Amino acid sequence: MPRSLAIKPFLRVLAGERQSVPPIWLMRQAGRYLPEYRAIREKASGFLDLCFDPQRAAEITLQPIRRFGFDAAILFSDILVVPHALGQRVTFEEGEGPRLDALKEPGALKSLARELDHSRLESVYETIIRVKQNLPPAVAFLGFCGAPWTLATYMIAGVGTTDQLPARLFAYRFPDAFAELIDILVEASASYLTRQFAAGVDAVQIFDTWAGVLPADEFRKWCIEPCARIVAKVRERVREAPIIGFPRGAGTELGCYLQGVAVNAVGIDWTAELAFVRDRIQTLRPVQGNLDPLALLVGGAALDRSIDGILQAFSRGPLIFNLGHGVLPDTPIAHVEQLVARVRGQPAHA
Ligand code: CP3
Repeated sequence: MPRSLAIKPFLRVLAGERQSVPPIWLMRQAGRYLPEYRAIREKASGFLDLCFDPQRAAEITLQPIRRFGFDAAILFSDILVVPHALGQRVTFEEGEGPRLDALKEPGALKSLARELDHSRLESVYETIIRVKQNLPPAVAFLGFCGAPWTLATYMIAGVGTTDQLPARLFAYRFPDAFAELIDILVEASASYLTRQFAAGVDAVQIFDTWAGVLPADEFRKWCIEPCARIVAKVRERVREAPIIGFPRGAGTELGCYLQGVAVNAVGIDWTAELAFVRDRIQTLRPVQGNLDPLALLVGGAALDRSIDGILQAFSRGPLIFNLGHGVLPDTPIAHVEQLVARVRGQPAHA
């Protein structure tokens, strides 16, 4: 057994082992709810500049580890650095989210590079090296990428959308061009994750945030198959690479996802039914999740009840405790402390 596996509870769960106290980390654990993040953010010229500044990105990655002692650190970056490294213009407008030069019709694909320009991502790999040097030995280090479908929703719409309509229309109207875009993203993502492993991450997560909006056959074509290819390609280069899949909103299709995608564990969003996940999903693979981010924001008895429900439902198998999506910016620090203490079975501060 590699030494890192022996001492990192998070990696032991990814290897299929149940831990009596489940390891815990939170999606978006480095972000605006932390005053120390806001202090660095205020001084930065823009969000992407922060992602590409190794010294500050490493510092932000470590902030939630120092404050809460989570079992895993997630690289501070964004899924949209991949379109950026394929030559698409990406910016983040203050308070408005991402803006990209939308790929409006098949001809627009010509403007994209066929291969990732790693020189545009060198600073991300540099961040990984820096974090690795400063991480406590029991804490695992998680890299990530966006899944091709989720990336395509932003690349085609040029903005975040509530219904992912532009990409859904594009996929129906121009299936060949859409498949070509997905192929480019499969190659780019596999190559990006491989480089993250080479720089020092212990595991990676593939975020398919918008997986839940597709009909079953489209879900298979645009989510399951591309993610399966990414996993296979990464493992050709990094043998037994630990990988988590997060097909948000997959619901009853979670079983299909796990049949198709050879991930080590699957992220569960907060809408999934606990008994279904316990009986049909956790029996297939370790699960990660799935506290409602709103319960964390509200705190108090509602938070305790939600935590206990998850711990009880998933206590018999391997579990990584997490949210069902990212920490919301207005979440009080004290609620995150309450969560960590309760999951670890320690008395919360009065
Ligand atoms: O989880 C972490 O702490 C690691 C860092 C991380 C960020 N984004 C930082 C971020 C990760 C893993 C992501 C993934 C990401 N980015 C996803 C997939 C997961 C998800 O949340 O659904 C998506 C869809 C994006 C794209 C993105 N980035 C959007 C739509 C936005 C704007 C909305 C928002 O929350 O502000 C971002 C910005 C972003 N990414 C911020 C952070 C900390 C906020 C930027 C700021 O400081 O203003």
